[in-house]
Amino acid sequence: MPAIDIHGLTKSFGSIKAVDGLDLVVGEGLCLGLLGPNGAGKSTTMKMLTGQAIPDGGSLHVLGFELPREAKKAKARMGVVPQLDNLDIDVTVEENLAVFARLYRVQDVGAAVDRALGIARLTDRRKDAVDRLSGGMRRRLLLARGLIHDPKLLLLDEPTVGLDPQIRTELWTLIDNLRSGGTTILMSTHYIEEAERLADEVAVMAEGRVIARAKPSELIAEHVGVSSAEVYGPPERLAEVRAAAEEAGLRVRAAGPAIAIVGAEQAEPGLIPEDAVHRAASLEDVFVLMTGEDAE
Ligand SMILES: Nc1ncnc2c1ncn2[C@@H]1O[C@H](COP(=O)(O)OP(=O)(O)OP(=O)(O)O)[C@@H](O)[C@H]1O
Ligand SMILES: [Mg+2]
Repeated sequence: MPAIDIHGLTKSFGSIKAVDGLDLVVGEGLCLGLLGPNGAGKSTTMKMLTGQAIPDGGSLHVLGFELPREAKKAKARMGVVPQLDNLDIDVTVEENLAVFARLYRVQDVGAAVDRALGIARLTDRRKDAVDRLSGGMRRRLLLARGLIHDPKLLLLDEPTVGLDPQIRTELWTLIDNLRSGGTTILMSTHYIEEAERLADEVAVMAEGRVIARAKPSELIAEHVGVSSAEVYGPPERLAEVRAAAEEAGLRVRAAGPAIAIVGAEQAEPGLIPEDAVHRAASLEDVFVLMTGEDAE
């Protein structure tokens, strides 16, 4: 039985089709990265999984329970880590965890709190008030709170959006440990690097649907090839190089101030300028070519 089983899911807001015939199956133990540009429908999908939004159509099963009918049972077995910090700053670290343990009717609250503190590496800060923690520690506590009832499935909506790189790296380590431990994870993100580092498989979402799904290395091999050549220079030169490459049947994408010629290994000698920077094809190449968006 898959942890998440979604078929033909739809959800509109007025005339906006936020989710438009989504199919998504997440097997047990998998970490799936849901990668998509702004407005692709990632958060709406997450909200339907947590029962915060009711689908217009399609079917939705989480851990074998049908949603929204059995949302309560499903929610008891899943952990949700919100994008925004909503910790209780008036009480200690361990009390934040204990409140949630009781909410989830965990039998041994003390043991659950100890376990969550251990995972988040906050055992020695358990008596601290939340407002005395660093930003990274607060984030780890938020994650620990989502894990208090030892959920089989963890939903992370943009777990590191807006965080500084050091805190992001800390969280990546934590999430990676959970993944290695066998927790099923669905993580939405628009950070390519986050998906590349953490996800066993990536589903690229655009306009409410999954348009490609595979391991990052497979997506790269299938959609972009082996290497990309980045060319820098004034706009007129870039336009010329782009035209010549496209004429030769290669795909080209914007890459900040540069252009990237994708599948550069297939270019005829002389086509790619000598000063081009060659690098391995990346998930970012896939994302930008498929969604037409600039990557972050
Ligand atoms: N409560 C709402 N009312 C009206 N429109 C909404 C609502 N929630 C989402 N939408 C619209 O649905 C579409 C999908 O939004 P959603 O938040 O799911 O995208 P997302 O993939 O999470 O984007 P982002 O990367 O910006 O978080 C957008 O066009 C958005 O404006
Ligand atoms: Mg979102």
